[in-house]
Amino acid sequence: MRKGRSKAIGVKRPLRKGPNRVEKSTIRLLVNGQEHLLRVGNRPDEVDPSHTLAFTLRETLGLTGTKIGCDHGACGACTVLMDGKAVLSCMILTVEAEGKEITTIEGLRNRETGQLDPLQQAFIDHTAFQCGFCTPGIILSAKALLMEKASPTEQEVKEALAGNFCRCISHYHILDAVMSVVRMGGKRDGTSISIHREAHP
Ligand code: FES
Ligand code: FES
Repeated sequence: MRKGRSKAIGVKRPLRKGPNRVEKSTIRLLVNGQEHLLRVGNRPDEVDPSHTLAFTLRETLGLTGTKIGCDHGACGACTVLMDGKAVLSCMILTVEAEGKEITTIEGLRNRETGQLDPLQQAFIDHTAFQCGFCTPGIILSAKALLMEKASPTEQEVKEALAGNFCRCISHYHILDAVMSVVRMGGKRDGTSISIHREAHP
């Protein structure tokens, strides 16, 4: 599988210093269908303006399924969905994610039935992992692709996953798993590949 920088998007902006550093005292995050109101500040229980989305997901919200590998936009381990697109959460400041709809690996299963997403099930069925560190990011990159294009070619799958590194060399199994979902038309036991969104106020 070709390696390179991730297709996921995200730009780390320099932290603003000085009296205007914190413009808002509270931000609203929508994560896996749940609303979180987080205070912005420098106290331990607040979101520092320098915190990345990856850090906040893991350390503030306890969603440790999102992994941090390089913390520098190079490995894809931190990939999550933001408004349905794959993004590198280590390259996005939490305050930039305000009002965005974030989906982590914990939010991928069907929220009504609890059934795993077809991609999650396919990774289990194909044993498409070893240590599993890269797996959440890879599944979410594949999810973004399948939401955009229901029947990608094998080459398109490879390109979509090009920025997700797997140090255990599980690439062939990963490709088999994703293509099995493509062949099923994204369905398994009646479960659609679409994200199960909940209504937000
Ligand atoms: S941890 Fe974000 S790209 Fe490596
Ligand atoms: S399964 Fe270990 S890094 Fe991919």
